[in-house]
Amino acid sequence: MTKRAHVVVVGNEKGGTGKSTVSMHLIICMLEQGLSVGSIDIDARQATLTRYLRNRETRKDLAELGLQLPEHVAVPPTHDREGDEARLQETFQAMVARHDVVVIDTPGSDHYLSRLGHSFADTLVTPLNDSLIDLDVLALVEPGTMKIQRPSHYSEMVWETKKARALRGEKAVVDWIVLRNRLSNLDARNKRDMEMLLADLAKRVGFRVIPGLGERVIYRSMFLEGLTLLDLRQKILGFEFSMSHVAARQELRTLVEGIGLNRLKAQ
Ligand SMILES: Nc1ncnc2c1ncn2[C@@H]1O[C@H](COP(=O)(O)OP(=O)(O)OP(=O)(O)O)[C@@H](O)[C@H]1O
Ligand SMILES: [Mg+2]
Repeated sequence: MTKRAHVVVVGNEKGGTGKSTVSMHLIICMLEQGLSVGSIDIDARQATLTRYLRNRETRKDLAELGLQLPEHVAVPPTHDREGDEARLQETFQAMVARHDVVVIDTPGSDHYLSRLGHSFADTLVTPLNDSLIDLDVLALVEPGTMKIQRPSHYSEMVWETKKARALRGEKAVVDWIVLRNRLSNLDARNKRDMEMLLADLAKRVGFRVIPGLGERVIYRSMFLEGLTLLDLRQKILGFEFSMSHVAARQELRTLVEGIGLNRLKAQ
């Protein structure tokens, strides 16, 4: 029987919003759920996810700690658009046939490979820095009145990729989820404005908003170690277990449930 993986694309046209961090955590969460996972790095020029996974793969204690890995492929762009798109299609088809879930990390800029990657999504996860500045990839907001004027380029791009799916004869419905990343308790006013604007925009553009991840220093140190919050359950050198890790893991669980990935079953 041909396997048809559930496809999760992590995307936002803005750089540095946490796409690769979220991708890595979703991949490890899905593996821990007993699913087979394929991952594709379309942002292969920067290759954060690829390097994150390589840092994991090359840990000397990988086997001892039982750290799992996905089947990972990076698709770096060359100057040959047609060739690049064909390679991504081919990689994607192979992954989808082999795994339960495929997670695709995309670059923080508009690129033809990113557009094609977005068109594969069953679920699109968009991490957003918790700031009004970052909101403008989704919508143009009138300063002063704080009214949404119109959806902006990324929202339009998602709309276009839904059309691309429909043209290929696939279902055009994509579960689009926006999550606020790096939440802090410091700026209550900004937080309230974001909440209000996102709720308004969600109805107009067609996404849902779920609780995101808090601002935590730990995310930055785990990259070089190739680790995720999920791995910190055990005693790993250099990472003292703390209550803040427990809270962070709970946040991650809520995020996975919010996306609905906890309901996926191995095929
Ligand atoms: N919740 C968080 N708390 C603290 N730091 C975070 C959090 N999420 C991400 N970061 C840090 O923010 C930086 C950007 O994250 P990441 O590389 O995941 O973003 P990105 O959207 O993939 O960026 P790019 O668009 O450049 O690919 C990294 O240093 C990462 O460790
Ligand atoms: Mg990235």
